[in-house]
Amino acid sequence: MDDNILTLKRWIEESSNIVFFGGAGVSTESGIPDFRSVDGLYHQKFDYPPETILSGSFFETHTEEFYRFYRDKMLISGVKPNRAHIRLAELEAEGKLRAVITQNIDGLHQLAGSRNVLELHGSVLRNHCVKCGRSYGLEAVTSCEGVPKCTCGGTIKPDVVLYGECLDEDVIEASVKAIRNADMLIIGGTSLVVYPAAGLVDYYRGNRLVLINRDPTGYDSSADLLITGKIGEVFSQV
Ligand code: APR
Repeated sequence: MDDNILTLKRWIEESSNIVFFGGAGVSTESGIPDFRSVDGLYHQKFDYPPETILSGSFFETHTEEFYRFYRDKMLISGVKPNRAHIRLAELEAEGKLRAVITQNIDGLHQLAGSRNVLELHGSVLRNHCVKCGRSYGLEAVTSCEGVPKCTCGGTIKPDVVLYGECLDEDVIEASVKAIRNADMLIIGGTSLVVYPAAGLVDYYRGNRLVLINRDPTGYDSSADLLITGKIGEVFSQV
């Protein structure tokens, strides 16, 4: 076994307050493309840049087009948690991992059994009417074509943080608290280029900052342990 994996395994064994911070790279081994890898969503060709389509203002002005992109590219049916999601849920059940903080909106951590999941960018599983506030599940979006409508006639909107929108203050506060108190912070499957999410990792005060990523990131030099590779494969060994 690779020395770095051995160190990760030992650090996990010695820690009892681990926090995980992840991104789209955690779900690629479940079949969900990420955004910025060469085969990611942002390298595909669309009428508008995906960051424009996935913005609050585009949702307001081009709702029909937003939902066409959203159903086609953001809602991938039949995906299952992979070895990374599963191992993280096990570590929580063993009382070693305190929180999963994710930028993902796919709900796979909860599907794997994780209970304390802080979803910085929301979830496709939760939707609401912009007029009356009524809550809806995913099926309200997947069971119809075009713009999903509430019984009150209002438009249904995903509870997903779109570009230009604010993150939930309570989720940020809980994430900062968890990271501040962590004895070990494992960051994985994220390019760490989107703020304020990426900035949360700066609250970590310990000396066991682990970074597991396929491509280099701007935080590589800050890591106490840097593992380059596929996160599902890494977690299947610890
Ligand atoms: N194992 C490890 N790392 C992986 C794997 C894998 N199997 N697959 C991809 N990666 C890495 C890539 O190398 C890349 O650096 O995961 C990272 C994914 O980066 P992004 O595509 O930028 O995704 P993310 O960091 O989650 O983006 C943050 O940007 O568009 C917004 O709201 C969106 O939440 C998203 C945010």
